[in-house]
Amino acid sequence: MESANDTGVYDKVKDYYGHTIQTTDDLATNACTMDKSAMTRPIREATALIHPEIIQKNYGCGAVIPEGVKGRSMLDLGSGAGLDCFVLSRLVGEEGRVVGVDMTKEQLDVARRYVDYHTEKFGYSCPNVEFKEGYIECLDKAGIESETFDFIVSNCVVNLSPDKGAVLREAYRVLKPGGQMYFSDIYTNQEMPQALKDNSVLWGECLSGALKWTELVQLAMDIGFAPPILVTSVTFTSDNDTVSQLLAEAGSPDLKFCTATYRLIKTSWDKCNTDDPIVDVEYKGGISGHEKSVKFSYQGELLANTKVPMPESTATLLSQLPMDVSIVGPSPSITTPYPKISGYLTVDPFKVAGGSIEMTTPKALSGGCCSGPKSCCS
Ligand SMILES: C[S@@+](CC[C@H](N)C(=O)[O-])C[C@H]1O[C@@H](n2cnc3c(N)ncnc32)[C@H](O)[C@@H]1O
Repeated sequence: MESANDTGVYDKVKDYYGHTIQTTDDLATNACTMDKSAMTRPIREATALIHPEIIQKNYGCGAVIPEGVKGRSMLDLGSGAGLDCFVLSRLVGEEGRVVGVDMTKEQLDVARRYVDYHTEKFGYSCPNVEFKEGYIECLDKAGIESETFDFIVSNCVVNLSPDKGAVLREAYRVLKPGGQMYFSDIYTNQEMPQALKDNSVLWGECLSGALKWTELVQLAMDIGFAPPILVTSVTFTSDNDTVSQLLAEAGSPDLKFCTATYRLIKTSWDKCNTDDPIVDVEYKGGISGHEKSVKFSYQGELLANTKVPMPESTATLLSQLPMDVSIVGPSPSITTPYPKISGYLTVDPFKVAGGSIEMTTPKALSGGCCSGPKSCCS
């Protein structure tokens, strides 16, 4: 047990999501409120088909729908009332498959009640989504076999777990080789004071269990993932005076929170590659909703059919993902805004959110409405 007053953290979280809160209006803070800025057109269209009760019971803190999911197998850790699962159910198509795992019966009951509704709404002959009861620290007990999923998503859940190492080890186990965990969660800039770890309301609100971002990076690397790729990051301050006071009383005036989305990729990478030549990569525009550009990491977008220079280590990893990106060959460029893969280890989400690490747009992409991090094209 890494935290929380006692060993009852699971029961407290279950009680919080099963009884204390019924809709987003009941949340005590703004931590579990979703930033919708990263929604592409297909995601917005799929979300528009979701039953209003599911929308009201959405406690996610980010956008966790990765690119290239059509026909793929998806696992949602801590699926709650199922919003992300139902959106994915639509996006993977009838030939894809979505499994949500959650430990809270009341959340599962809501999600399961709407499976037939969405199956019919999407025009499928049988459901492609199911919800399993279980703990994300031991997916084997929920019957999830090794190397069975292309993607794992998770929205504001890992912070609630008292054993984050077990969650990430299980995620690694059940991902297929080359698969990726694409997830949003809350992180801090320094270690959580014990007084806050012991506060069960703040734990339930996804604050007290938050990892310092460097802990997430270390944990993921220890388990065998490639260096975590930061995709988005937004800092936030609590909108609740009592919470702000608690934070102040805990004697950590400099403690900050951010919501960040990371890609954890299950692939081998060459740790010893010091010779990392610059190569050109090109995105072919083949992902629905991302025809004009796609965003691989926080640095900005890859414009379709445009050569972009990046270190070979980064390009190799990117070309292994289902993102319709290929390496064209050696680049005449000498510099690139993209770090080599090992460079992602030190990317501080607080600096990215605060703008002191720029969301650089590669020169090849400048100009036009699609060139900046706030693309209008998706
Ligand atoms: C903040 S809510 C997010 C729910 C959902 N992902 C969403 O975006 O609406 C957290 C969910 O994670 C579930 N959860 C927390 N810890 C868990 C664990 N160790 N195993 C399984 N589910 C867990 C809770 O039951 C709750 O439904």
